[in-house]
Parts: sequence; C-alpha cells; structure tokens
Amino acid sequence: MIFYHTICLMKESELILILDFYGQYNQLIARRVRECNVYSEIVPFNTPIEKIKEKNPKGIIFTGGPASVYAENAPMCDKEVFNLGIPILGICYGMQLMTYSLGGKVRRAEKREYGTTEVSIDSTSKLFKGFEDKNICLMSHTDFVDSLPEGFENIGKTDNCPNAAMQNVQKNFYGIQFHPEVNHTNRGTEIIKNFVYNICGCHGDWKMSSFVQDTIKSLKEKIGDKKALCALSGGVDSSVAAMILSKAIGKNLTCIFVDHGLLRKNEAEEVSDVFGNSELNFIKVDARSRFLNKLANVENPEEKRKIIGEEFIRVFEEEAKKIGTVDFLVQGTIYPDVIESGVGVGAKIKSHHNVGGLPDYVDFKEIVEPLRDLFKDEVRQAGLEVGLPEKLVYRQPFPGPGLAIRIIGNITPEKVQILQDADYIFREEIAKAGLDKSINQYFAVLTNLRSVGVMGDERTYDYTLALRAVETTDFMTANFSKIPYEILEKTSSRIVNEVKHINRVVYDITSKPPATIEWE
Ligand code: XMP
Repeated sequence: MIFYHTICLMKESELILILDFYGQYNQLIARRVRECNVYSEIVPFNTPIEKIKEKNPKGIIFTGGPASVYAENAPMCDKEVFNLGIPILGICYGMQLMTYSLGGKVRRAEKREYGTTEVSIDSTSKLFKGFEDKNICLMSHTDFVDSLPEGFENIGKTDNCPNAAMQNVQKNFYGIQFHPEVNHTNRGTEIIKNFVYNICGCHGDWKMSSFVQDTIKSLKEKIGDKKALCALSGGVDSSVAAMILSKAIGKNLTCIFVDHGLLRKNEAEEVSDVFGNSELNFIKVDARSRFLNKLANVENPEEKRKIIGEEFIRVFEEEAKKIGTVDFLVQGTIYPDVIESGVGVGAKIKSHHNVGGLPDYVDFKEIVEPLRDLFKDEVRQAGLEVGLPEKLVYRQPFPGPGLAIRIIGNITPEKVQILQDADYIFREEIAKAGLDKSINQYFAVLTNLRSVGVMGDERTYDYTLALRAVETTDFMTANFSKIPYEILEKTSSRIVNEVKHINRVVYDITSKPPATIEWE
C-alpha cells in the first residue's frame, strides 16, 4: 500500500491520448506527438471509458503490439471508445483492432512482413496531406487487414499488404499498418502531424516556456507558504525540478544533497560548488558510511536499488525534521522513469529509484514530481528556460543508485575507490578526444571477474574493468559507441597503469536491446 500521493498539476493543454497495446515503440509515438507541440499521454489499453472521457482528448492513438486480435487474452479496449466522436488513429495492431472491433476482417499472412517497404498512398487523404503517391515506411506485422469495416475506404497498399492504410472520413477513424513513429518511415512525424492538426484540430499549445510558467503557477497555488524539501543530486532532472520549485516557493524550499558514497570521483565537491552559493538553501549530508553499511554483502541489483531508495527517504525525513514541518518532498522523476518502472502496463525492466524503488511508507504528506510527464529532451529545454547553465543541462545522466549498480556483486569501499579512479580516467580521455558531446552516456563498470595478468615480471590476479559508452536519444534504445581504437587503447593503458587492482579492460559492444545501458 502506498501512503503518499503525487501532486497532479492542472493540465489544460490539448491532449492526444495514446492507448498502449504493448507496442515496443509506444514512447516514440508520444514523443512524436509532442514534437508537434501537442501534449500526449500514454495510458493502458484497458483504461475505463469514463477516465478517457474525463481527460477530454482531442484525439486517440492505438499503438501497435505483439498480439493477434484473435489470440486468447488479446488486449482490447472498451468499444465505447468508437462512440465518443473523437478521432482515432490505429497503428499496426491498433489498425487491426479497429478493423476487428468495427466488423472488418483480419487475417494471418503466410509470412511476417518486416522492413522498409514502399507504400502506395492516396495523397488526397487528410492523413497524407503534402505527400507524393508513394512513401517508404517500416512494416512489422504478420496479421493484416483483409477486409475493411463498413464505412471505411482503402488509402494505402504494398505488394504484400492490400490494406496498408484505411480511413472513415465521416467518423475520423484512420488506420495504418506501418509505423510512422520510427525514423525508418520517411516523414513519419508529418503523418502524425497531419492526424493531430488536420484531423484532430489541435493548434499546438504545448510549449516548454508555457509548461514551465504553468507549473510554477500551479505549484505556488498548491504549496502556498508550506515548506518543501528537494532531493538534489546535481543531475539535470533534480536540478531542473529544484529550480522550478525555487521559482515557485522561494526560501521555503530546502535542497538536500546526499553524498551516499557512491558518487563519481570529485562529484560531491563539484555539486556543492555549483549549488552551495545559490538561493536554494543547499544542505549537503555526508551519509557515506550509513549507505555502505546497509549495502554490505548485498549482491542483488534490485535489492541494492531498494535499499538505496529507502535510505534516501530516511535521510530526507531526518533532515526535514531538523527544518520543522515539511509537507512536500520534491523529486526529479521523469516520464521514462515512470514507464520503465512498470507503473503502466509495460514490462518492468528495472525499478529506477525515483519511482519503483521508493519504500511503501514515506513520512511526507505529498511527493511533488514536476517533471513526471516530460521526456529527457523536454527536461533539458525546461532547464534552459529556468536559466540553468548549458554545461549542467547537457550533463550525461547518472543513475540515482550511482556506482552501486556499476559494481557487480557486493560493494566495498575499496571497490568504490577503484571504480571512481578508473571511471575518472575514462571520462577524462573521452573529453580530451572531444567525444563528450556525441556520446550520450559513458562510464566504467567494475565486474566481479578476476583474471590472471602479468605486470613487470610479476603475476597479478585482479579485477576486469568494463567500459560502456552508448549513443541514444531516448535511453530506451541505444547503440554502443564506436569509439576509435586509439582512444580505447590510451584509456585502457592508463587505467591498468594508474589504478591498482585492475589488470584487464574490456569494451562492451552490445546495444540496447538486448542489453540495457547499465550492467545491473
Ligand atoms: P538502463 O540500464 O535501464 O538505463 O538501460 C537507462 C537509463 O536509466 C538510467 N538508470 C537509472 N536511473 N535509477 C536512476 O535514476 C536507476 O536505478 C537507474 N537504472 C538505470 C541509466 O543510467 C540510463 O541512463
């Protein structure tokens, strides 16, 4: 049972609601809609119709998904959604579901169609306004729409798929078998834009400057002259959250920075330097031994996250008591944290500490998460809006549990020190090579593996260090970075020479998926 609740900020923006049928690209759909300056939200496919009505969306998008509409337990939404008079766009499974629900036929193809394909489209359709008669699109499906429901007409086909797009102009229902949200589809965002503007009639009122101003105003009203405590880690998310709160409630905000002993080398000092002299009522708490004691002999990554999440909150509560009555706890949770923590219907991959890792009982009246609905790039824009320096706004992300999830297996102070030193060298070499802007996240991991080496004439039996560097925009998928060999060589040689107890360095060449960015 959860004893806290999150402040819901008033949202009066135009909304496109995305019904999640477990498609792998769902977040991308939400991002594409927002790139059109229209607010979008992902909700589970089985969201009750009353809730959908309450949200008053201008349009609804059904996502893709792995199921077949004929499968047992296939995800279905309430059919009432078709009677709301709201435009609907069905993508892939979403199109098939629309077809099935409205009396058309879906059939299983002999062969799965996967890859970019030329789709012949009817460019007189509002959905394809501004397009030529052919467009390259990403298809990824086995089932397909065999016959259209009554009232629909065909507006697209490929060699293998007779109904690659359909419309019912009267009802404003549209279906596309391909995925407009991925880059592999040519001008996919324009298709979404056509739906959002030409069909749903949105005007594009979702702008970061107005989001920031509205959020500040609504927090001012909600919190009034009560006190709030912010968990400031120095990362972009919590820094932006703190700045927004500071603008809303001024001196009634206190920012607590917890040094849990699992930060990167020199990080505690750097964060104190940036925020120590600001107007944020900045307090640094040295909780290093407290966290390390709790983590002693803990090997399971999820357990590490839970322990750190819980200890964080306890530290805050104690600090809060010193300040007097504090009702609100501010956190820098962002939208991907919410989704990846399995709060919606998606699979739970890891419980990021801001959400899933929180203990059940928290001694604050309310949790304030002003960035809960934003994607990372939107948080960065908000950061610039509130006047944070670019250097901080474009910092690479660092996970809440810090080095705890980059030391595989149990954590000791010695291992922390080894990892801090090695990671520092890697970051230094990346910066020297001018790669720190193009690589989105890069760090070292201390594996639990020890192997034999030779140094001078001596045999060594020491740790293997892994280097990880990825290029990504959304951190949901990522490619490993193709760092030039010379830089890897220089880094490796410096690490084995300068950091005691590392005698082997390897480079992680896996992308996400199938791996994740962090090792734990
Ligand atoms: P993964 O490893 O899930 O990481 O591919 C995706 C992004 O999330 C960060 N990450 C975390 N952030 N608490 C956080 O605040 C966590 O427990 C956590 N685990 C992963 C990771 O650094 C990457 O940016």
